[in-house]
Amino acid sequence: MPPNENIARLRLEVLRRELHHHAHQYYVLDNPLISDGEYDLLYHKLLNLEEAFPQLVTADSPSQRVGSQPLDAFTSVAHTHAMLSLENSFSDDDLRAFEVKLQRFLPDVEHFSYVAEPKLDGLAVELIYQDGILIQAATRGDGRTGEDITAGVKTIGAIPLALCQPHHGRLEVRGEVFIALAEFHKLNMQRGADGEPLFANPRNAAAGSLRQLDSRLTAKRPLDFFAYGVSDPSQVTVSSQSELFIYLANLGFKINKQIKSCPDISAVIEHYHFLAQLRPELPYDIDGMVVKVDDFELQRRLGNKARSPRWAIASKFPASQATTLLRAVEFQVGRTGVITPVAILEPVAIAGVVVSRATLHNEDEIRRKDLRLGDTVLIQRAGDVIPDVVKAVPEKRSGHEIPVAMPIVCPACSTPVFKKEGEAALRCLNSSCPAQVLRSLIHFASKAGLDIEGLGKKAIEQLVGEDLIRDIPGIYNLKPADLAHLEGWGEKSAANVTLAIANSRKTSLARFLAALGIRHIGEVTAELLADHFHTLERLSSATVEDFLDIEGIGAQMAESLALYFADPATKELLVQLMAAGFQFTLPPVEQSGPSSLHGATFLFTGSLQLFSRSEAKEKVKAAGGKVASSLTKKVDYLVCGDKPGSKLKKAQELGTAILTEQAFEEMLAHS
Ligand code: IVH
Repeated sequence: MPPNENIARLRLEVLRRELHHHAHQYYVLDNPLISDGEYDLLYHKLLNLEEAFPQLVTADSPSQRVGSQPLDAFTSVAHTHAMLSLENSFSDDDLRAFEVKLQRFLPDVEHFSYVAEPKLDGLAVELIYQDGILIQAATRGDGRTGEDITAGVKTIGAIPLALCQPHHGRLEVRGEVFIALAEFHKLNMQRGADGEPLFANPRNAAAGSLRQLDSRLTAKRPLDFFAYGVSDPSQVTVSSQSELFIYLANLGFKINKQIKSCPDISAVIEHYHFLAQLRPELPYDIDGMVVKVDDFELQRRLGNKARSPRWAIASKFPASQATTLLRAVEFQVGRTGVITPVAILEPVAIAGVVVSRATLHNEDEIRRKDLRLGDTVLIQRAGDVIPDVVKAVPEKRSGHEIPVAMPIVCPACSTPVFKKEGEAALRCLNSSCPAQVLRSLIHFASKAGLDIEGLGKKAIEQLVGEDLIRDIPGIYNLKPADLAHLEGWGEKSAANVTLAIANSRKTSLARFLAALGIRHIGEVTAELLADHFHTLERLSSATVEDFLDIEGIGAQMAESLALYFADPATKELLVQLMAAGFQFTLPPVEQSGPSSLHGATFLFTGSLQLFSRSEAKEKVKAAGGKVASSLTKKVDYLVCGDKPGSKLKKAQELGTAILTEQAFEEMLAHS
């Protein structure tokens, strides 16, 4: 029996508080206290309860993190305080000159102390909290007006939907949204596998992810956030930048670990050199250091210029660039047939890494940069991302350079290439092209597909090379004896892989669809399709119109799906896979797990009628809750029996939730 609304409200409150707490531990403090599975169970309890009581869904509920219906366009948001940019400095002398300017501007100030912070290479955003709840988020835009990205920002785990401490009134927190390098690489690998264009660097990936009209896609991106300021220091009770960081951390924000309080400009310069050294080891991109005068009152007196504050400066790191020779251009065929030009370079060291290849994206890029074989080219590495060719250096030309010719046939199967009007990419349309088949196989078994352990890129290349597999169904015909004698294999690994292959046939329809690697169909769309059609039979006989009826599926995807399922080769593939014994599991249902009282603290007062005191305490503990001995802010619920006395009044003052004995009993029954 579902609980009544009051009980549901209380239970939702406990669940939300608990989920917020665990998200903070996980995303902000990097210190998870429960397993992902336990978190999911709590989360599903929340979803089920919210589904039964949709009127009780709040803006700060963790369920709001999954993204919402796509927007038609972003609306603009006027910043109450302009989001300024920073002036740049490039040397120790520039930093000393910065201090001299401060002294000139405020001659009565004898001494300046500073805070020196990494300059994060992401996207500046403003988060607006009203009475502790995140109500709006905006990009910087032109500094005065940005775009409303609230829906996307809510999906970022490191951004609190509700502050951890009470904060009355408005608070505008500023900081940087970014993607960590490791996550960026994973994302790009996945995009490569999905036949999507790669992001040039983590910054672009973060910007592209945040500026999605469909925030359900943003939710799938590994966005992260560091807070570094407030738009108006009068919104907080602290009086300096260094204190602000502690204040923001207490409110639940993630604060960068490499921030340093510097008593003087020499300490600032020292930290700059320290960060420059540390940079290659950091798990995220930084492009310099930001120096801020620590004291808010001094910041106020120094004020702003038109575009930047006088009290802060960015100290940039030298760019990671080098020039080298463009020796050749190779053409790679991707899974969906897209042909990508790759620059083959005379190897050159950039920021400690030898670079010999760089992506050239597509023909338009080559023409725009007027690149020629034999050219001296400027190469750039942002962090440790795929190197990029910035431009040719025409001054170094001898006259013997040769314009890059695009292929007229596929380099892997010699089928004439195809270029759709309005698209930059060249494509090979032969679905049995060996390069495409190899990439499809790699994708099918990869993490983005069925995640078959032991069947990574190298293994697939080897098995295709040995002619043991020619297509996806071929994977399911492999026998341990086929593998055991191969180089690098043995009886055990052969048995393990064949077992993993057999197990992979039990999967969800969504995962299976994602593994097929249909053009434009990634994990999110695969889920939409599985939720809508439930069976492969219904899905594979749907029309373009049927696909278009699904919210979140546009014309490009619908056409790609219809084309894919109409192809006789697809029909044959699906028949063979079903014959191999695929079975689709239903979406996961809620199982019993940790109770929803988990983490909540109770206190009892007055004389209880339904239980003895010790019985009541036992029940709370058995359901995963805690019992307090006195009334403090840590108490979530005060359970009142007869004659509750002074505790009741105090609980009302503290805003603690108050339960009657009956409500408590019902809560236990549903936990
Ligand atoms: S303070 C007026 N602190 O740098 C103060 N900005 O050119 C400006 N940035 O758009 C912001 N890390 O995206 C500040 N620790 C940091 C920063 C930082 C990166 C970016 C921010 C802003 C740009 C200013």
